[in-house]
Amino acid sequence: MGLRKILTEQESSLHKVCKTVTSFDRKLHKLLDDMKETLIESNGVGLAAPQVGILRRVVLVDTGDGILELVNPTMLETDGEQVGPEGCLSVPGKYGLVKRPYYAKVRAQDRDGNWYEAEGEELIARCFCHELDHLDGILYTEVMERFLTDEELEADE
Ligand code: CO
Repeated sequence: MGLRKILTEQESSLHKVCKTVTSFDRKLHKLLDDMKETLIESNGVGLAAPQVGILRRVVLVDTGDGILELVNPTMLETDGEQVGPEGCLSVPGKYGLVKRPYYAKVRAQDRDGNWYEAEGEELIARCFCHELDHLDGILYTEVMERFLTDEELEADE
């Protein structure tokens, strides 16, 4: 077990397309365990492997009832629309206004390679989109409408 360092937006690993995971071995399990510890420690809602410098298609999403491990995730379905504030552990201290689908359904493998589906609305759907974007080297700052101002952030508190 161990905490991994979260990289910030200027690091090149955050801007690259990640590779498919083909080995569901101890190394992957260690990565997932470390990412989970890092996500909990940083109070985040999601974390993608490139944020800890690993260019593999692995993300974690905290659904509120536990942390989902998504390996090689793909988007199956989206519906509706929501516009709201979004942040990223790799863009500390900032929030942007981002349009995302209201509902999203993904297909992914678990740590042993078994395929499953997961779906969610609101924050979960937003998080699926945000984390899957990370695997293609896309940060929310590239798809947002604008950054939130300090006044808007204070009003939210
Ligand atoms: Co992020």
